[in-house]
Amino acid sequence: MTAEDMIKTGLLGHPVAHSKSPDLHNGWFKQYEINGVYRAIDCLPDKLDQTVKRLIDEGYRGFNITIPHKQAIMVHCAEIDDLAKAVGAVNTVTIKDGRLCGTNTDVFGFVENIRQNAAGFDFKDKTVVVLGAGGAARAVVHGLLSENVAHVIITNRTRENAEDIKETCADPARVTVSPWDDRASVLSGCDLLVNTTSLGMDSMPPLGIALDHLPKTAVVNDIVYKPLMSNLLVQAKNHGNPIVTGIGMLHHQARKAFEIWIGILPE
Ligand code: ATR
Repeated sequence: MTAEDMIKTGLLGHPVAHSKSPDLHNGWFKQYEINGVYRAIDCLPDKLDQTVKRLIDEGYRGFNITIPHKQAIMVHCAEIDDLAKAVGAVNTVTIKDGRLCGTNTDVFGFVENIRQNAAGFDFKDKTVVVLGAGGAARAVVHGLLSENVAHVIITNRTRENAEDIKETCADPARVTVSPWDDRASVLSGCDLLVNTTSLGMDSMPPLGIALDHLPKTAVVNDIVYKPLMSNLLVQAKNHGNPIVTGIGMLHHQARKAFEIWIGILPE
């Protein structure tokens, strides 16, 4: 095998230096004895166009996209599959004959993380409270509706962003938007609570929410994984609830991207 044969993949974002994705993908290339590499590529918004062109010229097979490019990359894609269209964000691109084909593996990442780590939890007919209404919330809400939950309650600081997810999702009748100030009271009757806001992440303020109304059987998931035990998860654990950390979502979305590019879904 020559250097030219090497399969090139990577991650475009800003910042990307601390991303765990290169460790995951490069570990799988090694494990499956594939001559491939996954590089973290720091890219400012005004350099997205030229960076994408460079990756095409250098023969990259594909790349992931993270903050802040998940929406911006869509205009560069010649094809966007139905899933990414429904979510409204692309996080995985395959380069075919110099054309970008976009999809979204965050939905798979979220659903698989809950399936694997919330023992005995079945999405069907459940009531789910989603905190936040950014890009990650779109993928989460799409995953929940596809898994046949009965009801999704979205609560977000900026109400319009939550209304926009409701209006553009696959089944608005199953989605309710609730005021951010009522985030503690909507927890009664909740089977699964998901934080998709950046609150609780390193260098961000903690997520302030009282869990008194939350049934003790409700599963609590934070998609924040830095720190692994966010203040919400610590609070939920102390309250007696089963918890699911955010690292599994990162892991499972990466597995799916690896499968799309390489044809193997890592164990
Ligand atoms: P991502 O792609 O990771 O979802 P994002 O699109 O920037 O990132 O979304 C961040 C989410 O965190 C949003 O729901 C945001 O609320 P707004 O829609 O009101 O901006 C939420 N968020 C960020 N900082 C917040 C804060 N200080 N208080 C409450 N919510 C906050």
